[in-house]
Formats: sequence, structure tokens, C-alpha cells
Amino acid sequence: MYESEFPLDDSVIYLNHAAVAPWPRRTVEAVKAFAEENGAFGSRNYARWVHTESLLREQLQQLLHARSPDEIALLKSTSEALSVVAWGLPWTAGDNVVISSKEFPSNRVVWESLDVLGVETRHVDLDKGDSPEAALVAHMDRRTRLLSVSSVQYANGLRLDLAKLGTACREHGVLFCVDAIQSLGALDFNVRACQADFVMADGHKWLLAPEGLAVFYCRQEIMEQIALKQYGWHMLKDPLDFDSHSREPAHNARRFECGSPNMLGIHALHASLGLILETGIERIEQRVLENTRCMLDFLAARGDRFEIVTPGTPGHYAGIVTFKPLRESPESLFEQLRQQHVACALRGGGVRFSPHFYTPREKLVAALSLLDA
Ligand SMILES: Cc1ncc(COP(=O)(O)O)c(C=O)c1O
Repeated sequence: MYESEFPLDDSVIYLNHAAVAPWPRRTVEAVKAFAEENGAFGSRNYARWVHTESLLREQLQQLLHARSPDEIALLKSTSEALSVVAWGLPWTAGDNVVISSKEFPSNRVVWESLDVLGVETRHVDLDKGDSPEAALVAHMDRRTRLLSVSSVQYANGLRLDLAKLGTACREHGVLFCVDAIQSLGALDFNVRACQADFVMADGHKWLLAPEGLAVFYCRQEIMEQIALKQYGWHMLKDPLDFDSHSREPAHNARRFECGSPNMLGIHALHASLGLILETGIERIEQRVLENTRCMLDFLAARGDRFEIVTPGTPGHYAGIVTFKPLRESPESLFEQLRQQHVACALRGGGVRFSPHFYTPREKLVAALSLLDA
């Protein structure tokens, strides 16, 4: 149904959106057109490019349900945005940060790096508690300054209840930071409903865009508490007044963007978001969850051959399903799948499947059928 939007080769069964996604046709075309335009006319139409940049901020505002595009910065990666937060907040020795023990390295090392300032990073085992959310909250105390979680865990696919965590953070006076790279573009994400202070996500997974351009949401009220660690013309209040000697930063999230924007990436992400917003995130979420249910049910019916790593409780899964074959190694199964043109990944001690909303059901079923072979 959505296949015509994707120029993917027919031989490929692409179940690897949690790693690096293929681009939609319109994104391929936008990148080609941008390259052609640069080759033929250079930056003659720069004003139009800047307009596309502002449209992209509006698209991201809509996707995140932010109050204003002023809360949206365009950075180069999720990791960069996490670093802006970690190294911009004013810490006092003895403060602590709470994270889960199985976070992707970017959302771990950045907090651990604060140990030189006397800040402790608490790694919480999400399996030990009444719920993963309760386990995280139980590790907060009066010295906790910030909770940082992935909205969906990259390895086992666990989806956290962000609204519950956001409420707990408000009650404890703790800042709430969400690495949303494994859900933005796949699931509805509402920064206000979950009371997030900071949200970041690169474009190359569920947002179906190239690597190297990430969204960073920063709640307006907290923005000026983040000390700036990178400087350049583009983050200034009047970026085009090159003769000015002022150092006053912009009073919106552009203050985090020090230099020239990634215009190529902006054109690509703008095109990909066009498809996502046109399709509708509710519809996308529904299809993503149906895919996951289909994979979980298939594997559950073969419990003698596979152990499912991903939680099967509705609300606690998203687009990722990780499983371990019991009669062979994950590496051997992964290699067989690769030879059959199934793009997937080895993560969390098992094989990880991550189809997107447009993945045709027949292709998903074809990949699952290979597990029976
Ligand atoms: C949860 C999570 N955070 C961050 C990243 C990396 O993001 P970036 O390369 O944009 O820094 C990944 C990539 O797999 C991820 O899964």
C-alpha cells in the first residue's frame, strides 16, 4: 500500500529501521534535486533553503507537539544533543543522574563523564521492581537532578511509560531527558503530555532520513539554564549582522546551533517528515504496533524454538522485536537471514527485527517463515 513511496529493491526484506533506515522515494528525489541545484546555481536560492529550514522546524514542532518552533534546535546527532544538556547544566558535587543499566552507550557515557565534577550516575536494572518505571523512580532521591531514558530501548525494544516518568520527575523536582531515537517517527510523541524537558533524536532510524541531522527539543523555560559550550555566528541573536560585536545568543533553541546549518540534511528530513505527517502518526503507530504483535504471536507459538526478549505487554513494546533461537546461535541465524536478503540486526544477545509502517505484511510473514525453515 505504501510500497510505491519506497524505491527499496524487491529482493530486500528490510527489518532494520532501529539501525539505519532506507529513504523514501521523495527523500531520494529531494537530495538529488538539491545536488543538481547546487551544481547548477550554487547557493543562488539560499533564501528558499532558509525557508525550507523554517518549515522543517514547524514539522518537528508538530511531530513533538511542542509549543513553538523556537523550542526546536537542529543538531548533528542524538549524542551531540545529550552532550549539550549534560555539559550545559549547572551541577554540584554529590548530584546524581538516574539512567537504566541497558541504555545505548550515548545515553550512558555522557552522564558518566560528569564524574569529574563529582556527579554520580545510577544505573538501574529495569527488571528489579514492580515495573521498569517504578524501578527508575525508586532510585531517585533528593540529590537526583535528572532522569535520562530512551523512550524505547534499542536492544530489547522495551517501551517506557513516559507520562508516568514525567509525572514522577515533576513530583521530585527532577529534570526529564528522553532519547527518542527509537520511537520518533514510529509512535506518537507528545513532549507536553510527558512533561519532558529535553528530547533528542537523529533522523536516520524511524524518521527515514539520512544520518547527521538530529532534532533537539528544549523546553523554553529551562533553555537559558543550559550554559553554552559551543560558539559561532549562527547561534547569535542577530546572526546576519556580521559587523556587530555583540555576543548575545538567540533566545530560542537556535542558541545551540553554532555554525552553518546542514542544508542537505534539512532538505532530506523535510521530505521524509512530509511523508510521515501526511500519512499521520496515529496511523503509523497503529501499523507499527500491529507488525510487532504479529511477530510476537508468531514467536510465542514457537516457544520451544525461540525465547522472546521483548516484553509482550501492550504499552511496553513499540517497533522492535528481539528474540533468541534456542537451537542455534543468534549469529548463525542472523547469517542465514542475511543470505536470504533479510536486513536485521544482532542486539541484546539475540536477533532484532524492526519493520516500519510501510513494510508489506507479506514481506514480514516471508521473513518469519524463514525461521521455520
Ligand atoms: C537509543 C539510541 N540512542 C542513540 C543512538 C545513536 O544516535 P546518534 O548516532 O544520533 O548519536 C542510537 C543508535 O543506535 C540509539 O539506539
